[in-house]
Amino acid sequence: MKRAAITGVMGYLPEDILTNKDLEKLVDTNDEWISTRTGIKERRILKKEGWASSDMGAEAVKGLLEKTDTSPDEIEMLICATVTPDLVFPGNANTICDKVGIDHAFGYDINAACSGFLFALTTAAKFIEAGTHKKVIVVGTDYMSSIVDYTDRATCVIFGDGAGAVLLEGTDEEVGLIDSHFGGDGSGRAFLHMKAGGSLNPATVETVMNRQHFVYQEGRHVFKYAVRGMADSINTIMDRNGLEDKDLDWVVPHQANLRIINSVADVAGVPLDRVMINIDRYGNTTSGTLPLCLWDYEKKLKKGDNLILVAFGGGFTWGATYLKWAYDFSA
Ligand code: UT7
Repeated sequence: MKRAAITGVMGYLPEDILTNKDLEKLVDTNDEWISTRTGIKERRILKKEGWASSDMGAEAVKGLLEKTDTSPDEIEMLICATVTPDLVFPGNANTICDKVGIDHAFGYDINAACSGFLFALTTAAKFIEAGTHKKVIVVGTDYMSSIVDYTDRATCVIFGDGAGAVLLEGTDEEVGLIDSHFGGDGSGRAFLHMKAGGSLNPATVETVMNRQHFVYQEGRHVFKYAVRGMADSINTIMDRNGLEDKDLDWVVPHQANLRIINSVADVAGVPLDRVMINIDRYGNTTSGTLPLCLWDYEKKLKKGDNLILVAFGGGFTWGATYLKWAYDFSA
């Protein structure tokens, strides 16, 4: 069977920076609390007039096509992970294709909150492994500042905006996606959700006045489940593939909280210099965190490196993917 390998990665980050000091002026918080409780120093905020999450995704895809010398015509499928699509429908995938000139592909969105990119990656890989598709793009893009309440200190300090994209291609070499383990628990929806704007509570004047179109999170509860879900996924993947800590070159965790990342590193038995971390600069970009980590660390990755990507998000959703990196970086 062919394996699906990541053959390129690209990110997009808005230029505007919101620092902890800036947040001190908006809500009752301080740099010390945010830094020690989350590890975040600053995050990017999309302020471009008329731009939405698909524009950030399109920028990442445009850069990816250029960088990998791929023509838009070669792309047969594009999956977009997002919780902040431009519109409730249609999904972002087709909009992104339209914006970058990909017109021989089909596409759809996956909403699995912060696990979305990981779920989309495995979904895309199956089309390549089945031999029906040769080049597939997976995008993670979220415009979190469009659904964050900047009067709620419990959530507004955490999130940032950004996007990342990877190209997946088939390979007969011993690289690419090897195994994934995913989990879900719908009862977790009580602790992390947006109350209105869907079919349960369509938008009304009341839902707007009651500030129900923003992220609602019971952080302490989510934290406990996140640590457990990510630890279970890593343990399952390592056991199932006979991996020991010394075999892992990189752990790539969803960037929700530095304290969660530290506990994930402990479970994997990997020192922090083998864990991808950029939460200090970007905060939690939801579907963007994993591809943005790969993009930031791409220069350090070598062909054959063992990576475990691990995520946890609203739903609850969680999981881990084991892959072997497919290429050495060349500028
Ligand atoms: O991305 C996918 C899923 N999401 C996650 O994985 C997020 C998981 N949760 C977390 O990362 C953390 O729970 C938070 C960062 C959201 C919150 O940190 P925490 O250590 O769990 O804080 P807490 O909610 O238990 O609140 C502790 C105290 C409270 O004050 P009292 O009641 O002890 O007086 C909060 O009111 O900290 C207070 N607090 C703040 N203080 C200053 C909450 N937010 C802030 C703030 N600045 N921004």
